[in-house]
Amino acid sequence: MLEDYPKKVKLKDGIFVTLRPMTRDDEHGVYLFFNSLSEATRQFLRNDVVDRKILTGWMRELNYEKTLPIIAEYEGRIVANATLHRKTFGWGRHVGEVRIVIHSDFQGRGLGGILSDEICHIAAAGGLKKLVARIITARVDAIKAFESSGFEPIAVLRNYVKDINQNYADIAIMVKELASPRTEGS
Ligand SMILES: CC(C)(COP(=O)(O)OP(=O)(O)OC[C@H]1O[C@@H](n2cnc3c(N)ncnc32)[C@H](O)[C@@H]1OP(=O)(O)O)[C@@H](O)C(=O)NCCC(=O)NCCS
Repeated sequence: MLEDYPKKVKLKDGIFVTLRPMTRDDEHGVYLFFNSLSEATRQFLRNDVVDRKILTGWMRELNYEKTLPIIAEYEGRIVANATLHRKTFGWGRHVGEVRIVIHSDFQGRGLGGILSDEICHIAAAGGLKKLVARIITARVDAIKAFESSGFEPIAVLRNYVKDINQNYADIAIMVKELASPRTEGS
């Protein structure tokens, strides 16, 4: 599966970005990427991604079985990160979680849809049956983007998370059922 990378993909406006799994060597590039995000993009992310200690911890523990980050690069700069999280045991072992962050300059150009499809493909090939995304309900654009990629809102957790400004926010749980991967000849 990962042997398909690096892979060049075309955005709606004709430019190409390169997709590939993140490695430990990307720590500085990832740090620059997260620090380049606007507050509007960072506001509702789960982790304080500009904290270097959190980033260093992620990099140290990088294990594709549990967390597979696929980055998008344009002219040598990281412009997006999509991550597939999975549990390797327990009753949720058939469920993956997807998180996508795209630099505001690259939003609305089709990259979200491409990255979502990549993660779905990898997840299905890895035997997962469902993908879940947790999105702040106020991010109507993000909810619409995930709906376009086949995710359905199944529940809302009211006043569940706090954003970086300490305000409570509602979270939509969005789920996509994954088709079994095609076997050769089928
Ligand atoms: C949410 C996000 C991943 C979407 O990625 P994107 O590259 O901007 O979205 P795309 O250009 O691929 O658009 C995907 C679909 O959503 C629709 N969409 C995107 N923005 C929209 C908006 N503001 N209003 C309505 N629809 C919108 C597009 O029309 C497209 O639909 P289509 O496939 O039917 O044409 C991206 O904007 C982002 O990183 N946001 C900040 C972080 C975040 O909120 N992440 C979600 C938490 S996991």
